[in-house]
Amino acid sequence: MKGKFITIEGVEGVGKSTNIAVLEELLRDRNIEFVRTREPGGTEFAEKLRCLLLDNAGSNPAALSELLLIFAARADHLEKLITPALELGKWVICDRFTDATFAYQGEGRGLPREAISALQSLVQGKLRPDLTIILDLHPEIGLERVRSRGKLDRIEQETIDFHVRVRNSYIETARRDSGRCILIDASTDADTVQQTLRDAVADKLPELR
Ligand code: TMP
Repeated sequence: MKGKFITIEGVEGVGKSTNIAVLEELLRDRNIEFVRTREPGGTEFAEKLRCLLLDNAGSNPAALSELLLIFAARADHLEKLITPALELGKWVICDRFTDATFAYQGEGRGLPREAISALQSLVQGKLRPDLTIILDLHPEIGLERVRSRGKLDRIEQETIDFHVRVRNSYIETARRDSGRCILIDASTDADTVQQTLRDAVADKLPELR
């Protein structure tokens, strides 16, 4: 692929949007063409699946159905948006990707890692992010922020234990895949988080120095 694929992850309310804006500014300053997208979602079909997945008025799907719907959305997103953009040399900034599936459906819901890895290979082939930024925060703090913004969606409404497992999965991913991932402490003030992000990204990607 000619473009670079950057993903950003973390627990609910960790501040992904603010930090994606920092990343967008870095790319714009260097005249790098990019698309910003999100998961689940990013295409018309995948956004419909997102509504179904996050709807807290509907019935709860089986954990395996949830997993399959997420990969169904991802397959459409990859085929129609992510892969074509990367092939054209554009960079892609994606708000969540498969590390979220290992965290939420794997550690959160307790589905086996091997099942997720198998779907990952089927849907993505060899495509993996070039860089993943994982923002770390205790989920109690993140969920408090989300609550102050309004009603919680179906996944946000999960127990605190679920969200702690999600956090631990992200920390483990950052440790296991330290070449690809940057783990950033998001509990400090916004300016410090953003400066840490700029420095860490420049360290990993020479184009952003
Ligand atoms: P967000 O984009 O506002 O963070 O919301 C997306 C929600 O979807 C969030 O609760 C995490 C969840 N999710 C999964 O459970 N598995 C996944 O693979 C992805 C991408 C998201």
